[in-house]
Amino acid sequence: MDHCLAGHRRWSGRGRARPFPRRRTGPRAAAPPRALPGPLRDNGPVTSSADPASPAGPAGPAVLAPRLPSPLQELADDRFTRRGLRLLLKRDDLIHPELIGNKWRKLAPNLQAADGRTIVTFGGAYSNHLRATAAAGRLLGLSTVGVVRGQELADRPLNPSLARCAADGMRLHFLDRSTYRRKAEPETLAKVLAAVGAREAHVVPEGGSNALAVRGCRALGAELGAHADVAAVACGTGGTLAGLAAGLPPGRRALGVPVLKGGFLGADVRALQEGSFGGRRGDWSLDERFHFGGYARTTPELESFAADFTARHGVPVERLYVAKLLYALAALAAEGAFARGTTLAAVVTGRPFPDEP
Ligand SMILES: Cc1ncc(COP(=O)(O)O)c(C=O)c1O
Repeated sequence: MDHCLAGHRRWSGRGRARPFPRRRTGPRAAAPPRALPGPLRDNGPVTSSADPASPAGPAGPAVLAPRLPSPLQELADDRFTRRGLRLLLKRDDLIHPELIGNKWRKLAPNLQAADGRTIVTFGGAYSNHLRATAAAGRLLGLSTVGVVRGQELADRPLNPSLARCAADGMRLHFLDRSTYRRKAEPETLAKVLAAVGAREAHVVPEGGSNALAVRGCRALGAELGAHADVAAVACGTGGTLAGLAAGLPPGRRALGVPVLKGGFLGADVRALQEGSFGGRRGDWSLDERFHFGGYARTTPELESFAADFTARHGVPVERLYVAKLLYALAALAAEGAFARGTTLAAVVTGRPFPDEP
């Protein structure tokens, strides 16, 4: 049994206070949307996600208190307006100061399921997911282990992203790339858990995309359902898209923009939906043309697009995912891919790190 570090608070589902009290599952009165100054508006109450394990509500420890539903911000951008399109930003980057964007939606149900056990998870050297998990560990007093792709990194100084993880108390364990690729195989996983001394850990896969996380992302679709015809999101593992699509009401569709090259994501999203809901859910598709060479690859054109977007709208643009999503939407609008009168929502799933635009 792996124990929390001395002095750390332990969440116990068996104690008096549940980490995330169950949400009411019956009909609930619609609270009036809270008016916000400027173009940022809360988009009304979450209207679905009856999953009692889903923490998509104000319940939970105060340090994790989310701003949900996340605000919707309408932008006046002539690349869209001249084609008769409305562009909304779904500001998931404002849900929580440290569990940013889809990280809160994916991690919160896993933190609940961990029930005080060590969390072991996986990621690359610049993983947003590792940083968010480390931050959650610090906030909640949970022990966290980050298994990092690339044994060679063990002998180098930590990059700023991994240094942030370590500063938040995450233990880092570096794995050679070939073993890392096999990390989901039970034998390999068991060896990794033994090596990090956490056999009883709650294991969260790379990118945080397990069934709990996918189900947690349904609330995103439910929040957007009344407001957008097309809800678009950048994809890494596809977990956010899988949940978002499942949460959309009929007649709305989800569009995923993979930031990795390879054409495998359709199968992954289908598998995630199968594992989370027992089959395909919602109307979703992918546009695989906007990876810009692959994960963390960029071009001067993408860089200047992102800088210009921030200059026009004052919105910081995360480069690995969000920049590719926004670029894709502008390109699709220019191609005439959306009918006039369509409302598009781009999910802002991240914020630049460290704090650069
Ligand atoms: C900022 C950001 N946006 C989007 C994604 C993609 O999410 P998913 O892996 O669920 O496709 C990630 C991945 O974790 C991310 O860090």
